[in-house]
Amino acid sequence: MVSNTRLIEFKDIKNTESRDGYMGHLVPIEAESDIPFAINRIYYIADVPEGQVRGFHSHNDLEQVLICLHGSVTVKISTPFEEEHIVLDRLNKGLYIGPMVWREMYDFSQDAVLLVLASKHYDEADYIRDYPAYCRQAEGYFKGGE
Ligand code: TYD
Repeated sequence: MVSNTRLIEFKDIKNTESRDGYMGHLVPIEAESDIPFAINRIYYIADVPEGQVRGFHSHNDLEQVLICLHGSVTVKISTPFEEEHIVLDRLNKGLYIGPMVWREMYDFSQDAVLLVLASKHYDEADYIRDYPAYCRQAEGYFKGGE
């Protein structure tokens, strides 16, 4: 995986004891165990028109976990040294993105609902939105892509 990123597989409970038959999915998520940080903010993205791409930024000091609750979306995660495209299409699949990783979200299905759990409150000053500036900072941060 790209540095400062990883996939998290949450428990997917499909059978409830003492009840018969398929009951649907129940996915429990506990902060600071299933999620490697204390959750201080959640937000969700929905109804993204076909062809729209969101993101195009990095954060200096923010951790996030992205979970697609309905439909599907693809997330490009990159540093100046690495790049990956992760399809989020399962209720129990989370994408952890730590500091200094560039992200772009694309290929939203029409019904996609993307939930984001974040370690801090919204702070525009923490964003790096200028790609050349991001590359300069990230090259130093990742020191050659280890
Ligand atoms: P932005 O993070 O740029 O969205 P995306 O990366 O998905 O394209 O945020 C879009 C707008 O929403 C921007 O004006 C900032 C605002 N915003 C908040 O006010 N609070 C939040 O928690 C977030 C994530 C965004």
